[in-house]
Amino acid sequence: MKKRTIKSKLAISITLFALPLMTTLSFGQDFFKAHTNINPYQYEIAKEKTFEHAAVSSAHALASMVGAAIMQDGGNAFDAAIAVQFSLAVVFPAAGNIGGGGFMLARKTNGELIGLDYREEAPAKASRDMYLDENGNPYPNKSTRGAMASGIPGSVAGMLSIHAYAKIPLAKLIEPAIELAAFGFVISESEAKGLNANRNNFIKNSSSESAFTKKEIWKAGDTLIQPELALTLKRIQEKGAAGFYEGPTADYIVKEMSHSGGIITLEDLKKYSPKFRKPIEFDYKDHHIISFAPPSSGGILLAQMMKLIAPFDISKMEHNTAASVSLMVEAQRRAYADRAEHMGDPDFWKVPTKTLVSDHYLKQRMADYQPGIKGSSKITNAGQIHESEQTTHFSIIDKEGNMVAITTTLNDSYGNKTIVAGAGFILNNEMDDFSLKAGVPNMYGAIGGIANSIQAGKRMLSSMAPTLVTLNNKPYLTIGTPGGTTIPNQVYEGLIGIIDFKMSLKQSIDEPRFHHQWIPDNIMLETEFPEETEKALKAMGYNTLKRGHFGRMDGVQISSNGKRIAAGDKRGDDSVAGY
Ligand code: GLY
Repeated sequence: MKKRTIKSKLAISITLFALPLMTTLSFGQDFFKAHTNINPYQYEIAKEKTFEHAAVSSAHALASMVGAAIMQDGGNAFDAAIAVQFSLAVVFPAAGNIGGGGFMLARKTNGELIGLDYREEAPAKASRDMYLDENGNPYPNKSTRGAMASGIPGSVAGMLSIHAYAKIPLAKLIEPAIELAAFGFVISESEAKGLNANRNNFIKNSSSESAFTKKEIWKAGDTLIQPELALTLKRIQEKGAAGFYEGPTADYIVKEMSHSGGIITLEDLKKYSPKFRKPIEFDYKDHHIISFAPPSSGGILLAQMMKLIAPFDISKMEHNTAASVSLMVEAQRRAYADRAEHMGDPDFWKVPTKTLVSDHYLKQRMADYQPGIKGSSKITNAGQIHESEQTTHFSIIDKEGNMVAITTTLNDSYGNKTIVAGAGFILNNEMDDFSLKAGVPNMYGAIGGIANSIQAGKRMLSSMAPTLVTLNNKPYLTIGTPGGTTIPNQVYEGLIGIIDFKMSLKQSIDEPRFHHQWIPDNIMLETEFPEETEKALKAMGYNTLKRGHFGRMDGVQISSNGKRIAAGDKRGDDSVAGY
């Protein structure tokens, strides 16, 4: 695979460029001075590599390199995860964040599983119909743009909770992010495109100018410096949670709210705390799969879909043929119908998790499946239960075998397109992940009902599926991806590729993907999807739609000889690092 180099076009030394910042804000360059092999002004994207001890795969080369360096300095996978998340908040502003939320799924070497939910939460002033006009119709863009679209951010509180499992002082783990923000880093072509495409949105939705908008258009090789974000990170470094949820940062967030009618208060911020969730676990053909529980639908959907197809020998049907895709789609149809009806924040809605993933229930769900015959979303609805696209993922395995999978999100690319004045970070538009009105689709076309209706203090239903796999009770794989409602399907297809079709991690990640989510009743296919299969699916009666890429899957796998194989998705700038 050809390596891509991202380098500065500036002839002047970047240190000179950043000198005024360094003195006024009194920042050092301790981390990058100590790790001279990482150069934020010239670095390479590495898509697949095998390492002896530890590896990271993330959406950005610099974040992966920071994570690997932290582990080489004696940190474990949790230390690396914290450093990667804060670094992504700087180098991948479209989704890496401190203004959003996420889920961490981890397995310690002693087998202990940790599911940490730092998902955003509806503010105290939120209410069921807050995005509906007087006729009961959703206001355009109110749940997606501007301060009103944001839930209370959870990422910083999440990182502080994860620190309980880490070895290195928090201040050191935040340091690389501070330096990247204060001294800048060189952006790639896709980053330049993303910033240019969102320029008008940033200006329209934010109360003041920010580091993301400049007079000229952004080009690959430009340096992005974020002084306000550097100061915010410095406050977190010095004061921990209080550096974000109280004091100047909290004041800046609340001030930004008043600019476009947002409702997050100082009290909401002070009260936010992450929650531990018991992961979803199931077996699939010798592999033990672990994924995230509600308020994400990801783990339940993955368990349902893999268990629904387990009785069929899919490996004989061959990869991405009409037979294998049709089988997998019929499982997707059934699982996503259940998502719309039964899934929401378990603290507000009794999610029938046990039943939804039980063998008995799933056997009934597939009873009307006929190989080669298209199902119908008019006929297949959610099961009767009788009992009480822009996100980012990174995967880490350290030298001891601790596995961490984190999927974190602002929801849409660059969230609600609002940069908090004075604090320099983008806020999420996660409120759109609630069901604004029963049966009305959100930005991913997903519908929902009362299980996922808005209530103060409730967490909106997610599709994120940070996933771990063990083999013979030993760590084997960590994987995940962004992509809204396509996430569980991508992880499902990735795992089936590895387990049933015996693909390498990299091949399985790069293969063309398909997506069905019950409603609308069509299969979305990536542009490169085999035409022959599409024709055969159409002949079976399926409605197919070609669309661009979805997701950017990043994983780390342990080989039979104990090495760490890391793979980053071809679909983005995703890059791996390790040692
Ligand atoms: N915002 C995307 C998700 O949580 O599923």
